[in-house]
Amino acid sequence: MSFCRAAAFAPINIALIKYWGKRDSDLNLPRASSLSVCLAELGSLSVIAPSEALTNNVMVLNDKPIDGLGLLKVARVMRAIRGLADGTETRAGIRGVNTVPTGQGLASSASAFAALAKAGCAAYGIEADDQLLSKIARLGSGSAARSIHGGWVVWHRGERDDGYDSFAEQVFPVDHWPLRAVIAHIGHGHKKVPSTEGMRLCAETSPYYEPWIESCEQDLADCITAVREKNFLALAEVVERNCLAMHAAMIATRPALLYWKPATLAVIEVVRSLRDSGCQCLFTIDAGPSVIVFATPDSADQVTTAMAEIEGVSRVTRTMITGGAHIVPDG
Ligand code: PMV
Repeated sequence: MSFCRAAAFAPINIALIKYWGKRDSDLNLPRASSLSVCLAELGSLSVIAPSEALTNNVMVLNDKPIDGLGLLKVARVMRAIRGLADGTETRAGIRGVNTVPTGQGLASSASAFAALAKAGCAAYGIEADDQLLSKIARLGSGSAARSIHGGWVVWHRGERDDGYDSFAEQVFPVDHWPLRAVIAHIGHGHKKVPSTEGMRLCAETSPYYEPWIESCEQDLADCITAVREKNFLALAEVVERNCLAMHAAMIATRPALLYWKPATLAVIEVVRSLRDSGCQCLFTIDAGPSVIVFATPDSADQVTTAMAEIEGVSRVTRTMITGGAHIVPDG
């Protein structure tokens, strides 16, 4: 087999129906299915150069060498790719560039592993369809399964123990409903508890975890209906209830997983009062203090201005729903 240098870009994705908790932590199989959209411009570039001279994969991310758990996750994805390339022993040099702050609960691992899977398959000469790419990306970070596709994406929990039926697929295309996303960045530095550890603690100790998991199936069905019908108020209802119930389960974890800052609550208040006044916006929050506000194109200016005025919001990024992972020139 002949190998070549390859590069890919993948966008971050933000879940409207959340993934929180694994039924298998080696294969990153989720307890519940989730739904997300990819966001334009924010994401990760991955450049992969297979080399006979290397005895191990080496990786730099934003010019810093990766080791420990990060490199183990990369190795898991690369091993799957080499397995598909007739089990070759050839390792790779990998350069990653994140255009989102790493480790702040803004899903930089999702875009990074989706880009790694896409570039890796190209570098090792594997013709993988999006379903297979999604399963490979999932091995690095669960939510990465959803950054392969563009538009509105569902990641199926699957039933099988080997993960064969746990992959993401597009349910509506990018242009189905062109909502805008306004990100209110809050807080600095790395989050204290990594998501894998947070999920484990939450599932093991939070009295509200199982009720939240049980609610996800209905939430997913209601969300798909709201998106299909482009019913913004129904979407706001289900997205916010799913997010708040996840955070209720997180907060009830022992010890508590409290990701919010005062500004997080301030943004929630503003979004709710804007909506009461007829502005079509809704919020969602991942495992970090920042808030992602979705709005209709008509309402996005008002939301952007309001977010910038909130104390504790350090930056406001405005973006839109986009396509998924794609190959780029490797320069
Ligand atoms: O894929 P991970 O391990 O980064 O977990 C992502 C978890 C949330 O962002 C909180 C929710 C989600 O569905 O993206």
